[in-house]
Amino acid sequence: MRSVPVSEHITWVGAVDWNLRDFHGFETSRGSTYNAYLVSGSDKVALIDTVKTQFVGELLSRISDVMDPAKIDLIVVNHIEPDHNSGLVQVMAACPNARVVASASGVRGIAEYHDGLVVEAVGAADVIDLGGVTLDFLPASMVHWPDSMFTYCPEDAVLMCNDAFGQHLASAERFADEVGVELALEELRVYYSNILLPLGTQVGKVLAKVAAAGWAPTTIAPSHGVIWRGEAVGRALAAYEEWGSDDALRDKVVVVYSTMWNSTDELAKTVADAVASQGVDVELFDLAVASIAQIMREILDARGLLFGSPTLHHGMLYRVAGFLQVLAGLKPVGRIGAAFGSYGWSSGATKQIGERMTEIGIEVVQEPYTQKFRPTADELEAARVWAIEFAGKVKAAGV
Ligand code: FEO
Repeated sequence: MRSVPVSEHITWVGAVDWNLRDFHGFETSRGSTYNAYLVSGSDKVALIDTVKTQFVGELLSRISDVMDPAKIDLIVVNHIEPDHNSGLVQVMAACPNARVVASASGVRGIAEYHDGLVVEAVGAADVIDLGGVTLDFLPASMVHWPDSMFTYCPEDAVLMCNDAFGQHLASAERFADEVGVELALEELRVYYSNILLPLGTQVGKVLAKVAAAGWAPTTIAPSHGVIWRGEAVGRALAAYEEWGSDDALRDKVVVVYSTMWNSTDELAKTVADAVASQGVDVELFDLAVASIAQIMREILDARGLLFGSPTLHHGMLYRVAGFLQVLAGLKPVGRIGAAFGSYGWSSGATKQIGERMTEIGIEVVQEPYTQKFRPTADELEAARVWAIEFAGKVKAAGV
């Protein structure tokens, strides 16, 4: 299969997972890629990252477009999550002369994942010379796992940063400017919202270390999706800076709910309309049809969260509980919220949602709006008043 030149000494040899639709629960409507790069010096060739087990054949085919895989001298494992590392042993079998390096944490993880496999540790003090072309390393703990590492080739000014700046985006093109920078940025946002949201502080610290190390990449080559070059590098960096900043939140409310017999649906649409009437942006999602990945995309910059459910068996519907479990893992900070919902003969859902929001770290700023049976016109008006009060608090919290 076809390899693609990235820079003078670097070639993309990864795999395209066109059919990926679920990445441990993250809906990936546009598939993904597992990027790997060959870096060639006058003496040696390094392979930066490997791929998922089932894509090793594709990786080796693309390497063979450039060279005999058996002549690879070095394999760098930037991250041990199985989407990059599960195929390592198969790749090593095809590259029997290769030394394998990872971060210190990566070395331990590789041994645990691959039945005691021993590889070498590298860190910020190490430089590997491939013959006029060098590789520098930077531990990037928690971007995305403790083992994560960035590899930089200063001669080509290419940063190979694994999950950072990645997008779940399968395409025949390899560069953001080829698929369209706006599309790439959109998928960058969805990825950040669903993978890196709880790690924004660590992302900021690692990018500060990149600058402190004097690395000035003109190409950012992540492990998923397209590669950033030219003007797109600045756009991607600016997006990360914005999403990781303390004032990323704005006057915006995301309404998320599930419904049984449409009473909660009526309430959801009523409160969304009332919030919008106050000049606050609104996005509304019924969990029966919405993608949680897209909901998280909207929560990224929303200060207000309104979550609704009818009561079933004294509690919230399972879709709302599942959504809240995902949200808990993504640890949103600085948001305010409230619960709404309906019931027939026994309430309980709105109280439970409010308690879960508090556990997650969302400040619950008003009592829930709880509706018995179908809302009357007067009750819908009461829900409107309730939502307008909430919209006021969203605006006040942003001042
Ligand atoms: Fe793409 Fe954290 O793995």
